[in-house]
Amino acid sequence: MKSMLITGANRGLGFGMIKAILNQPKENVPQIIVAACRKPDEANELQALAAENSNIRILQLESKDLDRYPAFTKEVADIVKDGGLDLLINNAGIGSRFHRIGMVKSDELIETFTVNTVGPIMLTKNILPLLKSAAEKNANAPQGAAKAKIVNISSILGSMQANTDGGHYSYRCSKAAVNAATVSMKVDLKGTGICAVCIHPGWVKTAMGGPKAPLEVDKACKRLVNTIMQISEEHNGGFYDLDGKKLAW
Ligand SMILES: NC(=O)c1ccc[n+]([C@@H]2O[C@H](COP(=O)([O-])OP(=O)(O)OC[C@H]3O[C@@H](n4cnc5c(N)ncnc54)[C@H](OP(=O)(O)O)[C@@H]3O)[C@@H](O)[C@H]2O)c1
Repeated sequence: MKSMLITGANRGLGFGMIKAILNQPKENVPQIIVAACRKPDEANELQALAAENSNIRILQLESKDLDRYPAFTKEVADIVKDGGLDLLINNAGIGSRFHRIGMVKSDELIETFTVNTVGPIMLTKNILPLLKSAAEKNANAPQGAAKAKIVNISSILGSMQANTDGGHYSYRCSKAAVNAATVSMKVDLKGTGICAVCIHPGWVKTAMGGPKAPLEVDKACKRLVNTIMQISEEHNGGFYDLDGKKLAW
């Protein structure tokens, strides 16, 4: 894999995945890691990592700024050039407070849907030509290998079957919708060699996961990255946990 793009790269799982990717055997480390975040000037840890690793390129992206996506894509294209983009990780996301139906607010539903669902879908749409270029460049990849990948970081809270606690309307609906989008991506991109999957990263100690989460960021991200690297055509359109185990919709 030569190039990748990850959103929400400045902290939490996004930053953790970049560190885990850098810790892989040298031959598996992408030559270009485009790390998108809302406020590059305040992303001190990411800036420090980029200062030590010249393959990291930081770009600004606010998920809600949908009008910027074409210009952002041009910036990514200028970085990856003819090679295209091998891997897109739609990671940036927001959580929600636990609400029963009586406390649901429309503005929270809309904001969460914009960041967690509209953002990943529209970014994928814009970036698609770069993924297609990479897939064409990787045409000779072994049988069954993904020629380019889209990873939507989802959540088990988006699973219908696993929903026994109710509540969490905005977050659950936004992640269920991104799961639905992943299946459409699989269908729409048939024949391109591009594989799309959604992954629940586990309950992890980040700002979103909170201090009670059982998983540490570094360990979870190592497992996540291992799973992402092994995505092949057989995984296309599926919903997986951080170890690649299939989850119920
Ligand atoms: N942690 C868990 O237990 C858990 C479980 C299941 C799924 N997930 C999913 O994993 C992904 C990463 O979550 P996390 O735990 O790493 O959360 P986090 O620590 O809260 O980090 C969230 C990241 O998303 C970025 N972000 C939020 N709103 C954004 C916006 N409007 N535009 C651009 N970037 C934005 C944040 O940037 P700023 O620093 O600028 O805010 C930050 O980089 C999310 O999609 C989340 O739903 C997490």
